[in-house]
Amino acid sequence: MAKDINEIQGGPDHVAIIMDGNGRWATQRGRPRLLGHHAGARRVREMVEACPDFGVKYLTIFAFSTENWKRTQSEVAGLMKLFRRYIERETKALFKDGVRVRFIGDRQKLDDKLVSLMDNLELYTSGNDKVHLTIALNYGGRDEVTRAAQRLAFEVEQGRLSHKDVDAETLAKFLDTRFLPDPDLVIRTSGEARISNFLLWQSAYAEYEFVDTLWPDFTAEEFGKILSNYGNRERRFGAVSV
Ligand code: IPE
Ligand code: IPE
Ligand code: MG
Repeated sequence: MAKDINEIQGGPDHVAIIMDGNGRWATQRGRPRLLGHHAGARRVREMVEACPDFGVKYLTIFAFSTENWKRTQSEVAGLMKLFRRYIERETKALFKDGVRVRFIGDRQKLDDKLVSLMDNLELYTSGNDKVHLTIALNYGGRDEVTRAAQRLAFEVEQGRLSHKDVDAETLAKFLDTRFLPDPDLVIRTSGEARISNFLLWQSAYAEYEFVDTLWPDFTAEEFGKILSNYGNRERRFGAVSV
């Protein structure tokens, strides 16, 4: 299963995953979509546990987008309940595995109980450093940049910042991801080749990997294969290869 770290030399430090295809996975089985979300949530632990073996220090996962509120009330409510239960159930294992968990996204629209579970998990795991797991919950790239611009404008309004000081580095400090390096690799499951508002600013130079596997079928083995292929890519960042 997990490949030795030495096999994935030059692998990515930060991998971001758009965990897509839960609904289709359930529908294919004639089951309610929510069952697919539960099956999908169960896949996360295996990927987190594989990270140290693969040399991945940062794993960021897209759990719920700012656009996912458009789904039926029952799917949204089921997902919110799943997030609460997930945190309650996984806290111990995450802590034991040395995982530091953080959340990105707008918490204002989330219910108080969920937000307090998120806050507690962040605090509880804040001393860990083995793997940095960031969960994007009610996250949207445009929403994040908009909120950052609002906070930045407020600083200017208050006279604490001059508009002349606003450069890419300053703006990045106002993003939810201020504590994260940019992703090196973004993986999307389920065959869709789009980014659906995920890490728009941060992925400017990320590599992308789109795989057909539906998220509940995704395994650490497939994860390892993708990471091995990544080592063969040449990232030029706009320059000419030497
Ligand atoms: C991804 O799976 C999980 C969330 C967006 C919450 P989907 O629910 O989008 O699954 P499909 O794309 O409908 O199969
Ligand atoms: C992106 O998947 C969001 C998450 C995986 C949480 P969606 O299923 O919501 O994206 P679209 O609707 O196919 O673009
Ligand atoms: Mg989807």
